[in-house]
Amino acid sequence: MSSLSKAVRLLSSGTSCCAVRCVCSRYYSKGRSWGHQDSKNRKRIRYLTGASFSSLAAYISYQKYANDEESDNLQAHTANAKSFPVYSSQEIMQHATKDNGIWVSYKDGVYDITEFVDSHPGGEKILLASGGPIDPFWNMYAVHKSEEVLEILEQYKIGILSPEDQKPVDLNDPFAKEPTRLPVFRINSKKPFNAEPPLELLTDSYITPNDLFYVRNHLPVPNIDPETYRLKVDVGDTHLEFSLNELKTKFKPVTITTTIQCAGNRREEMSEFKTVKGLSWGPCAIGTARWTGVRVRDILLHAGYNVDDKAIKHIHFNGNDEDVTNTSYGASIPKQKVMSPDGDVILAYKMNGVDIPRDHGYPVRAIVPGYVGARNVKWLSQVTVGAEESTSHWQMNDYKGFSPSTTFETADYKNTPSIQEMPVISAISVPKANAIVDPEEGMVEVKGYAWSGGGRDIIRVDVSPDGGKTWKEATLTKDEPNADDSSHCWSWTLWSAEVPVKTGQTEITCKAIDSSYNCQPEWIGPIWNLRGFLTNAWHRVKVTVADEDE
Ligand code: MTE
Repeated sequence: MSSLSKAVRLLSSGTSCCAVRCVCSRYYSKGRSWGHQDSKNRKRIRYLTGASFSSLAAYISYQKYANDEESDNLQAHTANAKSFPVYSSQEIMQHATKDNGIWVSYKDGVYDITEFVDSHPGGEKILLASGGPIDPFWNMYAVHKSEEVLEILEQYKIGILSPEDQKPVDLNDPFAKEPTRLPVFRINSKKPFNAEPPLELLTDSYITPNDLFYVRNHLPVPNIDPETYRLKVDVGDTHLEFSLNELKTKFKPVTITTTIQCAGNRREEMSEFKTVKGLSWGPCAIGTARWTGVRVRDILLHAGYNVDDKAIKHIHFNGNDEDVTNTSYGASIPKQKVMSPDGDVILAYKMNGVDIPRDHGYPVRAIVPGYVGARNVKWLSQVTVGAEESTSHWQMNDYKGFSPSTTFETADYKNTPSIQEMPVISAISVPKANAIVDPEEGMVEVKGYAWSGGGRDIIRVDVSPDGGKTWKEATLTKDEPNADDSSHCWSWTLWSAEVPVKTGQTEITCKAIDSSYNCQPEWIGPIWNLRGFLTNAWHRVKVTVADEDE
């Protein structure tokens, strides 16, 4: 029984105020054991030791004051304290490496998460918290702080944090200055912000309006002053810096239209087949915009890039968004993509004719047409050249594909190539899943998008009204001719088809074929992977066809 409960018992049994005060002061002298509840507890003690203490009324109103949750916490704490050893923050600090074991603290618990980090690729990020409180890590990667994760953490509990060390953690919210977003977004995580537009709006126009473009942020959105902004460019011994104005005026501006797609687009379908780790994106983590900027090739040549230098193999991009250890988002792409006059890799400062919105990389972002969204680094701070790929977490331990039988324990991240060019994909935007559709003369209209990476155009989209038994070729809508300076088809094809349907339930499905005659796999089983990347199986939508005569 806790000291506080003892005090209450004594009180209700009619024991003198003096005896109660004695027990209460023992309870109080335990210090800050209950963290943020201290002030309430102090109030409670004052209340218990006050003049009205000897009356039954005081006891009853005390009971009203103490809610069940708090009493549970007190009891849980007492039980914990009995069964776990107590560690000081000094002791925890000594366990910050894999060799010594990785310990973290959360509230009053101490956890040894070495095993967790070993068996979870990307688990390394949690090393940000090693040897100390996990709160700053969760403050940054708030998406991980869920009931489920708290339960997992509980399995690794090894002790209690010494009451003296339970200091409040600085919880200044790094997400406090995020941009405002449209309420129509389907939000997949608030902090960092990750959201996609509604499916019914996605294919309404060939160019996705900026406000409806999906947002994929790994970290808080930086607030960059365009006046003081500088882009660093490092080529060997040459280190240059460009202001925003210099970037805009020193190099020839070009406009490139690209579709950008997140590797996790349509991940929720993969999860439905078998659980994967990652945000549950629907089919709208994709969008198309006209980006205006300057070619990275021109900038690197200006900085003295030697095209005959075989040692340079990768071009690295770093962002201005940082985590609590000041590590920024980063990625790299092969130099051939950048240095080819047809690669169309640019540093963009305009999105659809206006300054790039903050969520999408203001003031400057990399645009890498035909490649996975992850390499289109936003809020660009630096471009460098290197013999090796970027060592960024998002290049090394994320955005890689594995076989369906690979597990987190067997995944060989080091020797698995990074996802760069994207495979062919399509999706149905109309009708929506589970819709009741009204046919006209036995036909319904189906609409959607199709896209392929690497500059491969879409040459055909097949639509089936009966789960793949029969097919109809869709009518394709492409970008306006000569709309920009692109050397290849980097952007999507919108499509529509009138398909014959029968009354009752059916499955409408679509598949696209690109200019290399690549087509989409029939079902998810053979492409399932533990991170749920590259979901490009036939897109299937179950609908009910209404009876036309009713
Ligand atoms: N660049 C930075 N600096 N930080 C990020 O979190 N996310 C990447 C990429 N560039 C990211 C970034 C990912 S995973 C994707 S899919 C695209 O940006 C998303 O771009 P968008 O938010 O403009 O749609």
